[in-house]
Amino acid sequence: MSDITFTMIKPDAVSAGHIGAILKKINEAGFRIVAMKMSKLSLEKAGEFYEIHRERPFYRELIEFMSSGPIVAAVLEKENAVEDFRTLIGATNPAEAEPGTIRALYARDVGENAVHGADSDENARREAGFHFATTEIFR
Ligand code: CMP
Repeated sequence: MSDITFTMIKPDAVSAGHIGAILKKINEAGFRIVAMKMSKLSLEKAGEFYEIHRERPFYRELIEFMSSGPIVAAVLEKENAVEDFRTLIGATNPAEAEPGTIRALYARDVGENAVHGADSDENARREAGFHFATTEIFR
């Protein structure tokens, strides 16, 4: 079975109308969408999701932003999913993202950076489990 990664299209990209364009790039890069939902995180849920960043100076700003509007959460399947997806989305700071990457195209700045991508296989599984029941993942 191929690897999985977990992504969210963030509130900035959703409100700017970029859901369709971003999903198209994800599909064209060879990822299979095996779970997907649009939802709005509460401040508490966003805080829990980004727990590992609790001590960072940007934590409060991050969780307020991530709970400010709807997001699209998805689980993606592909060989080498985590690394290939991080290549597709580009650097966290869009000013440093390679041309043509999702963040270079659609992100506003390091906080409002259009998409999240899991940074390890372990976190991809944890984050997928945070957003989806096993009955909502179709592998
Ligand atoms: P993401 O991949 O969702 O994981 C953690 C997020 O923290 C990251 O994307 C950024 O949106 C956010 N982040 C990282 N560094 C900063 C920063 N310096 N200021 C604001 N937000 C940040």
